[in-house]
Formats: sequence, C-alpha cells, structure tokens
Amino acid sequence: MMLDIKNLKVSFQNSKGSETEVLHGINLSINRGETLGIVGESGSGKSVLSLATIGLLPANAKITGEILFQGNNLLTMSEKQLCKLRGANIGLIFQEPMTALNPAMKVGKQIAESLRLHTKISRKEAQQAALQLLEMVKIPDAKRKMECYPHEMSGGQRQRVGIAIAIALKPDLLIADEPTTALDVTVQAEILDILDELVTELGIALILISHDLGVIARIADKTLVMYHGNEMEHGETADILRRPTHDYTKKLLAALPRRTRLDFDNVPFAQGELK
Ligand SMILES: Nc1ncnc2c1ncn2[C@@H]1O[C@H](COP(=O)(O)OP(=O)(O)OP(=O)(O)O)[C@@H](O)[C@H]1O
Ligand SMILES: [Mg+2]
Repeated sequence: MMLDIKNLKVSFQNSKGSETEVLHGINLSINRGETLGIVGESGSGKSVLSLATIGLLPANAKITGEILFQGNNLLTMSEKQLCKLRGANIGLIFQEPMTALNPAMKVGKQIAESLRLHTKISRKEAQQAALQLLEMVKIPDAKRKMECYPHEMSGGQRQRVGIAIAIALKPDLLIADEPTTALDVTVQAEILDILDELVTELGIALILISHDLGVIARIADKTLVMYHGNEMEHGETADILRRPTHDYTKKLLAALPRRTRLDFDNVPFAQGELK
C-alpha cells in the first residue's frame, strides 16, 4: 500500500486552550495507479485531511492515528524528512494555482527552477524538461508559453502549470484539493482528463478532493464520502453511486444533473466503465 491512513483524528486547540476535534477517525488507503476521490460539503474536513497527509497542519493541531506512507509513519517523521517527502514523493495541486505560482517569474523558469532545486541538472536540461512538462499537461503552444508570466495565462492554463510543477519530480502520490473548482466546466473536464492520464501513464496515486460528486464520479476508482469529519461511506465509486447507504450521499447523488445520474444507472458492472 502506498498510503495507509488509520484512525486519523485531528483536533485544533484555540487560544484559550480548549480543543475541537474536526476529524473523528478517518481510514483510507491508496495504491499506485489508483484514484481516490474525497467528497464532502464545505467544512467536512477534506483539506485538513490532505494537509495532515503531507504534514502541513499548523502547530495547534493535535493529530493521532497513523499516516503510513510507503510503510513509514509520517506522524513520527522529522521536519527534515517531511520536507524531503514533500519535494520528491508527494505533489500538491491547489484550488487556485496562483497561490502556488510566483507572479513575477516566467512560467518556464519557475518549473525549471523547481526542478533544479531538487535535482542535479544543468539550466539547459531543466528548461528542456520544463518544456516537456508543459507539453505533458497539454498547454497549447508550450514553447511560447514558457516565456509568459502567470497573469498572462488563463485560469485553466495556470492550473496546467500548477500540475506541471506538482508532477515535475515524478511524485508517487499527488494530492489535488479542489483543482478544478475555479474553472469553467469544459476546462474542468480537460484538467480531470489530464490528471486521469497521469495516473495511468505515470502510475501515480491520486487523491482528488472535491465538493462535487460529479467530478469524483468521473475519474475516481474509490470514493470516501465525508460529513462533519466522519467517514460516511468508503469503497468502490461505482458501488457508492449505485448503492449509497447514507442519506447524505443520497442527497449528493440527487443533486447531480439528471444526465450524470442516468449515466451511472447505465453502468452495469466494474468501476472502470464509469470513466
Ligand atoms: N487551522 C485551523 N484551526 C482551527 N480550525 C481549523 C483549522 N483549519 C481547519 N479548521 C476547521 O476544521 C474543519 C474542517 O475544515 P476543512 O478546511 O478541512 O474543510 P473542507 O472540507 O476542506 O471545506 P471546503 O470545502 O470549504 O474547503 C472546519 O470546521 C474548520 O473550521
Ligand atoms: Mg478545503
């Protein structure tokens, strides 16, 4: 198992010393080449879960349980070990790609520099690798886009750059927290297809977080439905879509556009056919 989270509880201490638990015992696991979707309403704990997984929760967070990444418990690692892990093994994609990009540096250079930070390659090799990455995330006219600043690109193009940076060091695990929420529907579909391809082509494990079950249903093999910091359902996406056991999941399903729902009804067997 690449990532195995066991009975993860997170509580935050406020300035007066009182504690509020926001994750109440989450279990999940994901393997190479798999996509796990995490869906839940605002405040259900999706981001806290993803931040915990890369050791980025603030100091006032109390965490118990186990987060086993390739067999090693993240919760007992030093900051130095965590930094290395974040650089080389776990990539992150944010909702608003601007937060991950430097507004004052050309896109090609940004990707090249992040490569050079972690690998011993020449400036020229890094530039070539950056171009390849931009082509991999299907940025049109990639060569010219290398010379653009982030603000000269569309939201969808910026998100592609965000993905390019996240996959630059060939991570084993990619966590995408609402990567397409800020984008319009067609661009959203294109970005999801790219993520899906990365999983198949590079064998990456992908955790895709969204409040939109439609997004999750599109590419996730397995799904975790969260509600108020609890695990509502967890299993094969197709099973959850066809046989939701909790009212909350039923509500999420009912809120999907009719066409999407019909598509699920027509899915007879394995989750692969949902794609
Ligand atoms: N640093 C923090 N200190 C205290 N409480 C926090 C902190 N970060 C998150 N929380 C609380 O944890 C709970 C879960 O928040 P989280 O950000 O994980 O929700 P989410 O599911 O990602 O929501 P959204 O869909 O809006 O992004 C919320 O009640 C939030 O207020
Ligand atoms: Mg969030």
